[in-house]
Amino acid sequence: MSTHTIIGAQWGDEGKGKITDFRAKQADMVVRFQGGDNAGHTIKFAGKTHKLHLIPSGIFNDSAINVLASGMVINPWSLHKEITMLHDQGFDSANVVVSNRAHVILPFHQMFDEIRENARKQKVGTTGKGIGPAYADKTLRLGLRMETFIDFDAFDAFLDQRLDAINDFLKDAGKTPLTKEALLEKANPVQAMLRPMVSDTSRLVFDYWKQGKRILFEGAQGTMLCLDHGTYPYVTSSSPTAAAVPLGCGISPHVVETVEGIVKAYTTRVGGGSFPSEITGETARAIQTKGNEFGTTTGRARRVGWLDLVALEHAVRINGFTSLTLTLLDVLEDFETIKVCTAYRLDGKMIAHVPADIHAYERCEPVYETLKGFKGPISNVTDYHALPDAAKTYIQFIESHLGVPVGTVSVGPDRTQTFDIIEGVCGLDD
Ligand code: GDP
Ligand code: IMO
Ligand code: MG
Repeated sequence: MSTHTIIGAQWGDEGKGKITDFRAKQADMVVRFQGGDNAGHTIKFAGKTHKLHLIPSGIFNDSAINVLASGMVINPWSLHKEITMLHDQGFDSANVVVSNRAHVILPFHQMFDEIRENARKQKVGTTGKGIGPAYADKTLRLGLRMETFIDFDAFDAFLDQRLDAINDFLKDAGKTPLTKEALLEKANPVQAMLRPMVSDTSRLVFDYWKQGKRILFEGAQGTMLCLDHGTYPYVTSSSPTAAAVPLGCGISPHVVETVEGIVKAYTTRVGGGSFPSEITGETARAIQTKGNEFGTTTGRARRVGWLDLVALEHAVRINGFTSLTLTLLDVLEDFETIKVCTAYRLDGKMIAHVPADIHAYERCEPVYETLKGFKGPISNVTDYHALPDAAKTYIQFIESHLGVPVGTVSVGPDRTQTFDIIEGVCGLDD
């Protein structure tokens, strides 16, 4: 096996960054293939915590090259900031490659994001990073690709073509128009930084694949935030599923081999939209505090709830997970009981699927099974056998319900607090 894909199985923040970093020592290349700096991936090792938004979580492994592929939307100023931050912490970004076909997020995309969000009655609760407007421009065939952005004259010509219409929209919304001169001046240093990093990453990924080198694909967001298969319209503007790997990299679908679904031991969601197993009150606050459930990108408090196996079954089907990784299991220690949502009640009937109609989804009530809780601390456990019996029962319950093995468990934020319980669960050869 030479590729392995890591995908968020819920509404994001499942611990994808942590697990990608954990696996990166086995990889020659780590690739982000969708989304942008709406992602916030946290990695902890050697007593330090790192937060990444654009750069793949393989950056802390010297031997892997890190690719931002064409399916991403990239804010060059955010990338510049991230590279500078890593540099200041002593990490080299010389092995970062950016696709010439990736779309660029410009300052007006963030302004559009805010304007559109304010105009909505029911807020999506976007991260405000301009993700939706940048993907919309791409779809409308008005977008700007990296190749054009890094060419001073071509970027100048792009602004000549688009800026008047953009400023009309901004003026109508009561915002200050942007000037070409200010945008060119702002772009100058980041264009210079990007030029040596930009190339045809489709070829690069293909070459690595052909040579049998080991490639790790790192998803951002989560399956329930998928533009096509998530809880539309309360979703992001790309597909965070395994199907997005080939499209977002410019490579054959044959490339996708093992797919690891990252599952938080409970559920969280940031922003608007239905969340049938959401809880409030004392238990919710206990989970929020212990799990430090505050957004990596926006700092917003995450909504919390019990594990939702109906939503997870949806993610299993869409992604074809070959294994699951259960993260933040330590957060559930010391509860007397743990609830798991195994079905929904919709208008008096039991259902076991995610309805497409968002209003129907809003009316879904969770049907729970209650399992015995387990005593902690488990944060220093390093193998399956040392877990309390009730924690093993919880894992087995999830496996049997979803029909996918739990191959890896995470019991704390640190790189060392992770263990595989099935040998070879990561498709990459050692
Ligand atoms: P991502 O977006 O999927 O990469 O996840 P985030 O980094 O946004 O959020 C996951 C949070 O949980 C981060 O603060 C991690 O440091 C933390 N985390 C990851 N795994 C564990 C775990 O097993 N236990 C605990 N307590 N925290 C974890
Ligand atoms: P990672 O990779 C959690 C959510 C936002 C909002 C919706 C649309 O860290 O798991 P957007 O800015 O993408 O247009 O916002 O999607 N969202 C995330 N929630 N984790 C993320 O990424 C997210 N990226 C976007 O909160 O509800
Ligand atoms: Mg996150």
